[in-house]
Amino acid sequence: MNILLTGGAGYIGSHTIVELDKAGHSVVVVDNLVNSSEESLRRVAKIIGKDVPFVKADVRDAAAMNELFDEYKIDAVINFAGLKAVGESVAKPLEYYENNMNACFVLLDVMRKHNCKNFIFSSSATVYGDPAIIPITEECPKGQCTNPYGKTKSMLEEVLMDLQKADPEWDIVLLRYFNPIGAHQSGLIGENPNGIPNNLMPYITQTAVGRRAELGVFGNDYDTPDGTGVRDYIHVCDLANGHVCALQAIERKCGLAIYNLGTGHGYSVLDVVKAFEKANNLKVPYSIKPRRPGDIATCYCNPAKAKAELGWEAKYGIEEMCRDAWNFQKNNPEGY
Ligand code: NAD
Ligand code: UD1
Repeated sequence: MNILLTGGAGYIGSHTIVELDKAGHSVVVVDNLVNSSEESLRRVAKIIGKDVPFVKADVRDAAAMNELFDEYKIDAVINFAGLKAVGESVAKPLEYYENNMNACFVLLDVMRKHNCKNFIFSSSATVYGDPAIIPITEECPKGQCTNPYGKTKSMLEEVLMDLQKADPEWDIVLLRYFNPIGAHQSGLIGENPNGIPNNLMPYITQTAVGRRAELGVFGNDYDTPDGTGVRDYIHVCDLANGHVCALQAIERKCGLAIYNLGTGHGYSVLDVVKAFEKANNLKVPYSIKPRRPGDIATCYCNPAKAKAELGWEAKYGIEEMCRDAWNFQKNNPEGY
């Protein structure tokens, strides 16, 4: 299939291009580069041995998107485009709602006008809020999101469910990502956050490379085995491969389907620090800081549905995640 990746120059998108290429698909990327750089696509080109067709445009620009769909015959869309910094979304709710919601609305409208009704949406474990069930299955009720970013994911899920109900010609997969970390084994592409990282692994790698003095561990008084927050970290290449499997579901005309993409294992912040130190034989200085507002104690999934229905499961463990995250950071100390 010919797949359009919106936001395809970003962290997860760039890794997904590699997996799609491996599976024999062709891709087109549209990105406005608000949180990425074209260098990631040049690196992907090195990995896959061919250029990646790229349109620099904002997905909210209906004219540009119409033009893109006129030029390329698109069979399915994976919608990575969106702003994702939780703290920033609290400070700039209007910008987050406007960008994330409108980009999706414009895209869906252009798609139906071009009779392309195959769609994969990057959702998040954040839609479960403080989860009612651990490990989290897809049946777990959605919870209260504490920030506008999470609310855009939850609301767009509802929009997509309504759309598919109204027009069953749509095949739509909602992928609820847990915590993607790591990088492609080549060390050419990886996570490259702007400014001070919000997420744990890039903070660890930037500390290890000397760009940050120490990691702050946000709270050690949670109801978890060591008191620090527990999450389901998943290697970004495994996550990327989940999209290949989701496309197969779309080819089987799945209607509306929802999958958790995680490993099913929960690791605490200190588990990750220790695993990183062990995998890479170095020290990560850290100190305990107050809890981060909006954080929950524990979040990990039951990935059985994705295995049963998509034949997908994570191959890589925490050691590979730590090794590959460091490999990218050490080869690219200042990012791209
Ligand atoms: P990313 O910021 O690296 O990639 C998103 C890309 O979208 C960026 O390249 C950005 O430039 C682009 N973009 C944003 N708004 C756009 C617009 N209006 N038009 C065109 N391009 C636009 O983020 P990522 O980590 O690769 O995440 C991809 C998707 O997965 C996002 O929707 C994110 O919310 C979701 N997600 C990510 C995580 C995670 O931990 N990384 C977890 C759950 C869900
Ligand atoms: C966060 C977002 C979530 C989003 C995801 C991916 C919140 C509340 N949730 O998930 O909506 O989908 O990122 O972008 O922000 N930690 C530290 N020190 C740090 C950074 C993190 O101790 O410097 C801890 C956190 O408290 C948490 C764990 O590490 O226990 C993981 O944090 P993070 O990587 O930010 O992911 P989430 O909070 O799970």
